[in-house]
Parts: sequence; C-alpha cells; structure tokens
Amino acid sequence: MAQLWGGRFTKETDRLVYDFNASISFDKRFYAQDIRGSIAHVTMLAKQGILTVEEKEKMIEGLEGIQRDVEAGTLPVTEEYEDIHSFVEANLIHRVGDVGKKLHTGRSRNDQVALDMKLYIRDEILELDGLLKSLLEVLLKLMKEHMETYMPGFTHLQKAQPVTLSHHLGAYFEMFKRDRSRMKDIYRRMNTCPLGAGALAGTTYPLDREYTAELLEFDGPTLNSMDSVADRDYLIELLSALSTVMMHLSRFSEEVIIWNSNEYRFVELDDAYSTGSSIMPQKKNPDIAELVRGKTGRVYAALLSLLTSMKGIPLAYNKDMQEDKELTFDAIDTAKGCLALFTGMLDTMKFSRERMEDSAKLGFTNATDAADYLVKHGVPFRDAHGIVGRLVLYCIEENKPLDALSLEEYRTISPVFEEDVYEAISMKTCVETRNTVGAPGKAAMEKVIALEEAYLAAE
Ligand code: ARG
Repeated sequence: MAQLWGGRFTKETDRLVYDFNASISFDKRFYAQDIRGSIAHVTMLAKQGILTVEEKEKMIEGLEGIQRDVEAGTLPVTEEYEDIHSFVEANLIHRVGDVGKKLHTGRSRNDQVALDMKLYIRDEILELDGLLKSLLEVLLKLMKEHMETYMPGFTHLQKAQPVTLSHHLGAYFEMFKRDRSRMKDIYRRMNTCPLGAGALAGTTYPLDREYTAELLEFDGPTLNSMDSVADRDYLIELLSALSTVMMHLSRFSEEVIIWNSNEYRFVELDDAYSTGSSIMPQKKNPDIAELVRGKTGRVYAALLSLLTSMKGIPLAYNKDMQEDKELTFDAIDTAKGCLALFTGMLDTMKFSRERMEDSAKLGFTNATDAADYLVKHGVPFRDAHGIVGRLVLYCIEENKPLDALSLEEYRTISPVFEEDVYEAISMKTCVETRNTVGAPGKAAMEKVIALEEAYLAAE
C-alpha cells in the first residue's frame, strides 16, 4: 500500500478500505495525461521562479523516463499504488531523488485529476469524431451508389411510399452528422484548464495559470477554483451525446436486423460480419447489429448513473466523483467499438435492389401516385382515394402489385385509366417526381449529396 498522505495517520489503512478507495485499476489508463500535466506544471513552476531550471529539467527527464518505461513495458503500473498520481510521483522520487518531492508544489490531486480527465476526454472526443466521420464516409459512398435503388419507405412499419436506399441512408447521414456537431460543441465548452485550482481554493504560490493552460492547448484557465474541481458537466454532456449516438446506431441496427430477416432479405451480411448457430446449420445471424442494439443500454445507464451520483454532491470535490471514470471509460469504449463494427458491417453488406423494389411494389407504395394520376385526369381526390382503395383490395385478392393489372382490370374499376398509368405509377416515376428539397428524387438527392461531400471535405 503506497500512499501520499501517511503523515497524519498512526495506523495502517484497513486492506478492504484501501482497495475500496483505490482507483489505480482504472485511472492507470491516463498515465500519459498525468505525466503531460506534470511536465506542464513544473515548466510553469520554473518560469515563475518556484523551481530552478535545473530542478525542472531533472524532473522532466524523470517524468519522460517514466512514460518511456511504462510504454516499453519495463515499468508496470501496479496496484500497490493508490492511484496513478501516486504512482507517477513515487516513481519520480525514486528516479530523481528529493527534487521529485517538489512536483506537487501548488497542486492538489483534485485539480490534477480534473486536468487528467479533461486531457483524456479531449483525445477521446477527437477519436469518436473520427469514427463518426468514417461512418459518414461509408454512408455517402452508398448514397451515391443507390440513388436508383427503389425501396419502400415505412410509417408504422407499414409500407408507405417509395423512396430510394440513398434517401433512407441519407436520414442516418443527418443523424450522425448532428452527433459529430455535438462532439465539437462539447469539446469547445470543456476546453478550459483546471490546473492551478488546487484542492478548491487556489494557491498562495504565484502560479501562471494562463501559461499552463497554453502549454496544454486549452483555450484558457477555468475561472472559479471550486467549480474547477467539482465540474463534471462535460462528462454528462458527453454521455448524453454518446447515448444519442447509440440510439441512432440501435435504430439502424434494428433496421439491419429486419432487412436481414428471411421475410425481407433486403440485405445480405458479409460472412465476416455475421455468425452461425451451433445447432441450426442454415443460420446466418446478425449478431453484430444485435449487440450494438443491446449495448445501447450500457451507455444510457452510464449517463443516468453519473447524473444520479452528481445530484447531491455539495461543493467542492467529494470522493463520489471518482465514480465518473469507470462509467465514462466504459461508455466511450462501448460507443467506439460499436461505431467501428457497425461501419465495417455496413461497408461490406450487400443490398438486393430487386428485393427492395419488389417489396415496394407489392406493398402498394405507389397507391398515392395512382390516386394522383386520377386527380390529374379530373377525378376529385376523395373519389380517387376510394377507387385506388378498391384496386388495392382487388390486387390483394389476386396477390399482384398494381402494375401487374391489365388495363381492362383497371378500367372495370374506373374508366379514367389509360395506358399511361403504368408509366405514372412506376417506382421510378413515383420517386423521380419528388424533388422538393430533402425529397428522394434524384435531382434533389444530387444537391444534398454535393452539400454533404463539401461538408466532409471541410471538417
Ligand atoms: N482518484 C481520485 C478521483 O478519481 C483522485 C482525486 C483524489 N482526491 C482526493 N482528495 N482524494 O477522483
């Protein structure tokens, strides 16, 4: 048991208490951020004349050595230390001697951990953004390929009107694009440096907090030392944004699962992205999509858990806040894994143009267009609606799509129908005549795709 605070105590910590309190098993993942923060801190202390240049250099050399050795695997981060901060400080003293004992001048683990977590999360936000961008790139590629892949658009999971696969995927493009902009917002709002806030009330040393903030690439220092050590808003924002990412992935997964079902067969998953059954030889299961859907619950739970932990905490730092780490790490790891796997699955999936178009036809998604055809020939819409309703009923009895009826069959129900009805209700016509901004028609889709392409090139 290696602790930084033995002086005041006359008894050893109870082993169970020590283990309950320790955070090294999970905060070891930000050893590099802890070292980076310490290097910035001593650099600032030397600039302010609180440390000599030699002391600073010795400490930086020692800190860099610790990082090198941890990365080379020659210095394992063991659980004999309470947390990563104690590990780094103890190892520094071991390496550079007494001068290492000056590392913690004008600093508390409260501002230190607030800094480490922010540094860690900043990098993770950038990685999440990169993963979201890769998903958007695959979506855009598919959108360009499938502008004429007609499929049913659904409401109430009932076939409604024809759209294209390009248009359907374009809806997800918008969702993940918003997710990226949320990442950007969170980064911008959290990017202030808590180092120098001390335990809660700043410090009597003449620290240059602007300088440390600059060294660590923050926009500036935080402006209230109590808030600096007690703020976990940005984690709650991130968990909320990740919950939204997962909600989007989960909805998309649900569609992939439906599309991959024996009844639909709109898609075929690549062998590399599906799994078999130990008993049923015919099975090819969409496990990845199911797992993504299932893991969504973990990320929601992390958000609820942290909100609940934070709600009763008086200012400033309290140990409850140590709970932020495992929750946030797990949610980030989960979301990153799901994004990467989902992107791979989508990129390798095969879409059946034929099955999709047939499904749109058999689902009478062109019924509205058949009614519009009659309206264009002078029939009032309400009557046209009734006529097409009767046609659909007839088709259901005959198990045929609307375009498989003969002109005679059409005319028995309404004499207004002419030969050009087939052209008017073809999937192509139904889609291509919908060209308002954001609609599935090719001309409208081309405009949107050009905008999205420019967006991906710019950010
Ligand atoms: N492990 C602690 C955390 O994650 C670090 C801060 C400890 N501060 C303290 N006063 N005990 O929150």
